[in-house]
Amino acid sequence: MKIVAFGASPSKNSINKKLATYATSLFENAEVEILDLNDYQMPLFSVDIEIEIGQHELAKAFLAKIASADLLVVSMAENNGNYSAAFKNVFDWCSRIIGKVFQEKSMLLMATSDGKRGGKNVLEIATNAFPRYGADIKATFSLPSFYENFDQEKGVISNPEFDNQLKEIVKGLGI
Ligand SMILES: Cc1cc2nc3c(=O)[nH]c(=O)nc-3n(C[C@H](O)[C@H](O)[C@H](O)COP(=O)(O)O)c2cc1C
Repeated sequence: MKIVAFGASPSKNSINKKLATYATSLFENAEVEILDLNDYQMPLFSVDIEIEIGQHELAKAFLAKIASADLLVVSMAENNGNYSAAFKNVFDWCSRIIGKVFQEKSMLLMATSDGKRGGKNVLEIATNAFPRYGADIKATFSLPSFYENFDQEKGVISNPEFDNQLKEIVKGLGI
C-alpha cells in the first residue's frame, strides 16, 4: 500500500507537514511518500497564463503523485480561515487538467494550527469541498494548539488524548 502525504502549506517548517508525516508513521507496512508543496510552485493561476503556457508540468506531476497513491494523508494549513494560497494555486492548476483532482482516492484529512481551534475552519471547508473533487474522505482529525500538543524533536503527538484519538482513527481505517 502506498501513502502519499502532504501539508497543504508553503512553509519550510510546516506544522501540517509534520502532523501528516507523523500520521503516516502509524500505518504498518506502508510505502510512504511525503510531498512538499514548494516543489510545485507555479505562477498564480489565471486563465490568461493558462492560454499562454497551457497545462503546467508541475500540476501534471502533482496529479501523477496522487494517482500513485492508495491513500492520501493531507493536513490543511489554515490561513485566514481558509486554504493557504499555495495549496489553492496547486489545486486550481490541477483542477484544469483533472476536475476530480483527488482521483477517487481514500483520504485521511487533517488540520492543525497554533491556535485552540486547530484549523477547524479550513478542515470543515475541505471536508465539504473535497468530495466534489474526487476525495473519498474516510476520517478527519484536528490537532489544536500544535506547539503544546506535538513534540517536534520526536515528531510525535505528545498529548496522549489526541494521540490516542488519531491512533484510533488510523486503526478504524482498517488499512
Ligand atoms: C496569513 C496567515 C493567516 C493565518 N490565519 C489563521 C487562521 O485563520 N486560523 C488559524 O488557526 N491560524 C492561522 N494562522 C496561523 C497558522 O495556523 C500557523 O501559521 C500555522 O503554522 C500554519 O501551518 P503551517 O505551519 O503548516 O503552514 C495564519 C497564519 C498566517 C501566516
